[in-house]
Amino acid sequence: MAIKPVLKMGDARLLQVSEKVSQFGTPQLHALLQDMQDTMNALNGAGLAAPQIGVNLQVVIFGFEKNQRYPDADEVPFTVLLNPELTAIADEQEEGWEGCLSVPGLRGMVPRYTQLRYQGVDQFGKTIDRTVSGFHARVVQHECDHLQGILYPMRIKDFNSFGFTDVLFPGQEIVDD
Ligand code: NI
Repeated sequence: MAIKPVLKMGDARLLQVSEKVSQFGTPQLHALLQDMQDTMNALNGAGLAAPQIGVNLQVVIFGFEKNQRYPDADEVPFTVLLNPELTAIADEQEEGWEGCLSVPGLRGMVPRYTQLRYQGVDQFGKTIDRTVSGFHARVVQHECDHLQGILYPMRIKDFNSFGFTDVLFPGQEIVDD
């Protein structure tokens, strides 16, 4: 349908808590998801949350086979996730690099739970219940944070590991704009 402008950090709409989706399989929901997918694909995103295009609903999408923004990341299945609930399986966290389409050109080291269960529904109201690890767990935590009004820089513990992608990773052709 359309590539939408992605809101950037500083926009108050990114700081809101999103509302639950109550109706599934509607034309409006399908149109929103098409816009989100078009926008994510156009920007090579690993994921996108509805608030990033100014829609205050608990809707995230994520997934890729190969991603130019995260060339070393393992494949994550394309997923539409609504009304998510996250549960850490263990207390263990690990630091890893993250970027965000709402924070263009920057990367930071963010601690995330390594083992994660996520539950929710897809666009038709069908249950999703998965236990994941690695980059899959990271991207789900990142996207679902958007639904709570949290951007990854708010999670950074060590600001020595926060900077511009082209300076942090010189010569590495990481797409980040
Ligand atoms: Ni993001």
